[in-house]
Amino acid sequence: MVDLGSGDWLDANRAQWDERVPLHVASEFYDQSALRAGHGALYPIEERELADYFPEGLEGKRILHLQCHFGADSLVLAQRGATVVGIDFSKPAVVQARALATEVGLADRARFVNANIYDARHTLPEPESFDIVYTTWGTIGWLPDVAEWARIVEWYLKPGGRLYFADGHPAAWTLDGGENELPTLQYAYETDGVADVIEDDQDYAVEDAGLTNTRTYEWPHPLSETVTALLATGSAWTSSTSTTRFRGRCSARSSPRTIGCSGGRIPNGCRSRSVWD
Ligand SMILES: C[S@@+](CC[C@H](N)C(=O)[O-])C[C@H]1O[C@@H](n2cnc3c(N)ncnc32)[C@H](O)[C@@H]1O
Repeated sequence: MVDLGSGDWLDANRAQWDERVPLHVASEFYDQSALRAGHGALYPIEERELADYFPEGLEGKRILHLQCHFGADSLVLAQRGATVVGIDFSKPAVVQARALATEVGLADRARFVNANIYDARHTLPEPESFDIVYTTWGTIGWLPDVAEWARIVEWYLKPGGRLYFADGHPAAWTLDGGENELPTLQYAYETDGVADVIEDDQDYAVEDAGLTNTRTYEWPHPLSETVTALLATGSAWTSSTSTTRFRGRCSARSSPRTIGCSGGRIPNGCRSRSVWD
């Protein structure tokens, strides 16, 4: 049983994310020019789905963005008229998110909180107060306990609120391969809840990153585990509308290039870019 509030997993993962923040902020991968120009955009798949699920638009919605990184997507949502609270356990990420919010004139509508997801209810004690919980691309794979994550999501949602969750299909995690090789099936789909401890000095967004914090703890979660965890949170998820409340993406977001980028197991987050859907 992993201690969700402390431990090597949390320290190691946080250290690596802290190190990644300035690299990502400066990267082409996380290009912020459109955001800075006032018209940031999400991936087309998110744009499409958000338009489908919220045809009335995001104006006036209160959104909780879990694992918001340095706030770029949170601020896109705020540019659409939402009021957003972003949570991330990386202090440099949150500091950068706040600075970016001020720079783009959205500090009144975008607030950023520095917390481990599992401590969020203490740091941000605002139950049943969000219309949308939003979390995308490389999130739950960093979390040991998806059942607890689902309970936290449900705790924050207003009655009738919705989770928007987009990520790569966990089946992509079973694949691996070297640079310029076709990936092959190399890992089990079902897991035993024990972390994969990965040593890798590379980053999905920046070439030859040469990270010094190389160790991470990651948990591939089969789709069934995530769906079951969400269904188990109560009637809101088990009603006939549950499929519209929870739309887990089934698109594996990995390309041969990103799969081969580390020569090791697909880094969690790699699967978020270059689409296969
Ligand atoms: C791949 S990024 C999310 C991507 C983000 N949606 C984006 O595209 O910018 C994963 C984020 O999860 C955060 N994170 C990882 N484990 C966390 C935890 N236990 N609590 C809070 N944040 C965590 C990291 O700091 C990082 O910002």
